[in-house]
Order: sequence, then structure tokens, then C-alpha cells
Amino acid sequence: MANKFKRTTITSALPYANGPVHIGHMAGVYIPADIYARYLRLKGEEVLFVGGSDEHGVPITVKARKEGVTPQDIVDRYHKIIKDSFEEFGISFDVYSRTSSETHRKTASDFFKTLYDKNEFITQTSEQYYDEEAKQFLADRYITGECPRCHAQGAYGDQCEKCGATLSPDELINPKSTISGSSKLVKKETKHWYLPLDKHEKWLSQWILEDHKEWKTNVYGQCKSWLDGGLMPRAVSRDLNWGIPLPIEGAEGKVLYVWFDAPIGYISNTKEICAAHPEKYGNWEKWWKDPETRLIHFIGKDNIVFHCIVFPAMLKAEGSYILPDNVPRNEFLN
Ligand code: MF3
Ligand code: ZN
Repeated sequence: MANKFKRTTITSALPYANGPVHIGHMAGVYIPADIYARYLRLKGEEVLFVGGSDEHGVPITVKARKEGVTPQDIVDRYHKIIKDSFEEFGISFDVYSRTSSETHRKTASDFFKTLYDKNEFITQTSEQYYDEEAKQFLADRYITGECPRCHAQGAYGDQCEKCGATLSPDELINPKSTISGSSKLVKKETKHWYLPLDKHEKWLSQWILEDHKEWKTNVYGQCKSWLDGGLMPRAVSRDLNWGIPLPIEGAEGKVLYVWFDAPIGYISNTKEICAAHPEKYGNWEKWWKDPETRLIHFIGKDNIVFHCIVFPAMLKAEGSYILPDNVPRNEFLN
């Protein structure tokens, strides 16, 4: 096994730029990845250690609204704080960039377009809650109301934390938006693009459950339970004004879902550092497309499905990329 690979691309989960990184993240993700990168470098191996900030997604827009600033202000603030903490800690990234960069916008946009042109998406139209005051569609957890079971106030559109009931926003009594506080919620039709994971289930099962039995038990076990349960199409677009616009017609006001663009950030950040230091890192493609490169994703809590199932399906659908050889996830310190 050890001689199969010529070089290693190490990625570490891109932290959301809506708060500082804490010690649990350091211990669970960045220190293990850093130790591994340093170990390989000491052995004289060719290594690229990629990090960066994840700067899209709804929570950033919610925080901006609360503080009366723009989402860009929020990510500028936390990107700096996070980057400085990593420097202080001595995490030896070869590159630490951000998903609001122009290189990333173009890379993620082109990636979507390639899949779109290859007919790798399906579309579905569904009804979703819309906040007329915030002029925004609402994800289930941004709706709260009275629980229909235990009648606690403040139950979420997907779950009541008091009694544990799984809910849908339709069941809440007096639902209101946590974004604007408004109870003027209407249902509106909206169209989205989906990656049909069901179509990828067969090779994913073979690749993970048969070919990667050596993955950590917690990672392997979660993949197995997802695969055994059957995969379903996953939306890769959102109705939001913060993110990377869908690069196609008929998708005005829609952006790439944050979990679609963020892992592509690993690729964008590789492009950036290779363009800046070609003498040291060479061409970016060797880090992502050469079967002699070993790709390792160090990840955090709740990241397993995206790194083991969704992102590999995206890479496979694109057609020219390698897949991760391992996806270590360490338990967090609490
Ligand atoms: N921002 C996510 C989190 O903190 C991790 C993103 S990893 C990436 O949970 F692959 F999407 F970049
Ligand atoms: Zn309840």
C-alpha cells in the first residue's frame, strides 16, 4: 500500500467564518492533520496541506442581519480571527484561503456547470415557507412555534427540543420566522437542482464498504448506515442572496448550497497556492487528478456524509478527479 502513492494532498475541514475556532476543533481536526503533514514532510515526502475558511451559508446571513452588518463584514472579521489563531497555534498549512475568493467563485461555478452540462443533476419543484418580511425562503430550523405534542414554545420546524418530537414546519402552532420575527409566512413553489445520489449508490457501496474497510469505525459505520438506508437526491441549490450564483439560466436568486461549494474550496485553494508558487508546488492538477496522489480529508463532527458520500459523488460525476483514500474523523474534546 505504502508505495502506491507518490505524494499526499491533506485537507482539513474549512471552518465556518461565523465564529472563532475553539479547542475542540483544534484537537479533533487541525492538530491531527498538522501532525500528519509534518510527519510526511520529515520523511521527505511531497505534501500539500490545505486549509481555508468556509464563508457561505445561511448562519452567516442570520448573524449579519442580527448585527446590522453585511455577510461580507462577518466573514472578513472571522476569517482574520480564525487565520490568526491557526498561525498562533503553528498549524503548518501550505495554503489558508477562503471561499469568498474569486478563484473559488470561478472554480465552484465551473464545477457546477460541468455537472449540469453532463446531465448529472435532476430538478424538483417543491413548496417551501417564505418569509415575506425578510423576503427569504426559510429552512426548517429557522421557523419556530408551539410544539403540537407537548405545547412547549420555541419548537423548531424540524424538531422540538423539549420533547424530542421530529416535526415538520406544517405542524407548528403559530409558526414564525426566527430571521425577521414575522409570522407572515406563506408557502411558495421553488425549483431546485439535485444531485441524484441514488444513482451513485452502487459504486459508493462497493468503494466504501468493500474497498475501504480500513476507514475508522465511526466513519465506516456512519457510511454503512447511510448506504443501507438508501441514498436520495440531495439539493445543491438554495434560494439565498449570499453564495455563488447558479451559472445557468432560469435560476435567478439561487446560489450553490454551501455544502456543494465548500469542499470545492479545497481545490480552489490548491489552485491559488500553485499559481502563486509554481516552482514549489507545480501544477494544481497533480494534487487532485493523478492516481498516484493520496487524498486525505481530516474532518469534524457532522462532516462524514459530505466527505464520504456527497463530495466523492460530485468528483466522480465530474469525471477527472481522484477520490479520497481515507477520511479520518477524530472525536471532539468537550
Ligand atoms: N464549515 C463546515 C463545518 O464547520 C466544514 C466544511 S468542510 C468542507 O462543519 F469540505 F466543506 F469544506
Ligand atoms: Zn414538544
